[in-house]
Amino acid sequence: MVSFKQRNIISIRHFNKEELLYILDLASRMDHMDHTDMLKGKVLASLFFEPSTRTRLSFESAMKRLGGMVIGFAEPGGTSTAKGESLSDSAKIIEGYCDIIVLRHYLEGSAQLAADVVKIPVINAGDGANQHPTQTFLDLYTIQKTKGTLEGITIGFLGDLKYGRTVHSLAYALAYFGAEMYFISPPSLRLPADFLETLKDRKVKCHENESLMGISKRLDVIYCTRIQKERFADPIEFEKVRGIYRLSKTMLEEFGIKDGLKVLHPLPRVDEMDDSLDATDFAVYFHQARNGIPIRKALLAAVLGAVE
Ligand code: NCD
Repeated sequence: MVSFKQRNIISIRHFNKEELLYILDLASRMDHMDHTDMLKGKVLASLFFEPSTRTRLSFESAMKRLGGMVIGFAEPGGTSTAKGESLSDSAKIIEGYCDIIVLRHYLEGSAQLAADVVKIPVINAGDGANQHPTQTFLDLYTIQKTKGTLEGITIGFLGDLKYGRTVHSLAYALAYFGAEMYFISPPSLRLPADFLETLKDRKVKCHENESLMGISKRLDVIYCTRIQKERFADPIEFEKVRGIYRLSKTMLEEFGIKDGLKVLHPLPRVDEMDDSLDATDFAVYFHQARNGIPIRKALLAAVLGAVE
């Protein structure tokens, strides 16, 4: 039997297909639910060491809509981190003030580190360029709702595949569903070799390309991503790839698309996706961002043991 009770959500790799589907089903059931007091008396600590709009606010909103409370910060400059306190010390202290921790941090492995030193559940809201598992749940939910199925889709990941943690998590999850994957990026931003190897070991049909031209017609889903400027060690390297892709309605019309194409983007967008796409039938990214609410309600309720 699937149970998320008191479990950490650190990496999508820790979940099997049945567990992924369980959360999607729970989210679907909770999607149109009115406010409840399911999590009354529970406190979520929302610890954001990196900028966030969607992830932080949708977690906080989901918690409040389930009757719970939220403490935390969006800016570590106002906390003891500025005095030199370590993440593990901060986590141990904050554990005494809450029932669950949601953590976003620039260091890869930070969520696991926090989970290793506390006894309450930790949810990874993004650890550096590594993983962003709760985004993956909402991406899967969006694909399932808009395409009608998760099975056997052909997806093109476009943009920064090196540093884009949402791509790393989603590609891993879609391997359970027989997806064929196109990784479209400049050579310097290719998917890291270990991710590619893992996917190939799992018998995923993977292709690497530098352009959407000639490929867009095969895709059921385009997953567009922002170039992760803040993760480049060398600003010159960023300048070389800045603005390299600009997905637009005209581009897709010119290259050709498959019927029913859907374009997803975890957002925020900078210049990689033109707003000419917004009014098309394939644009689902604003809807995708709203799906953060049912997914995060489902995860909080399941982890805090409010649902079976
Ligand atoms: C993403 C992230 O933080 O990795 N944003 C999000 O959570 N929706 C994508 C990004 O910042 O580019």
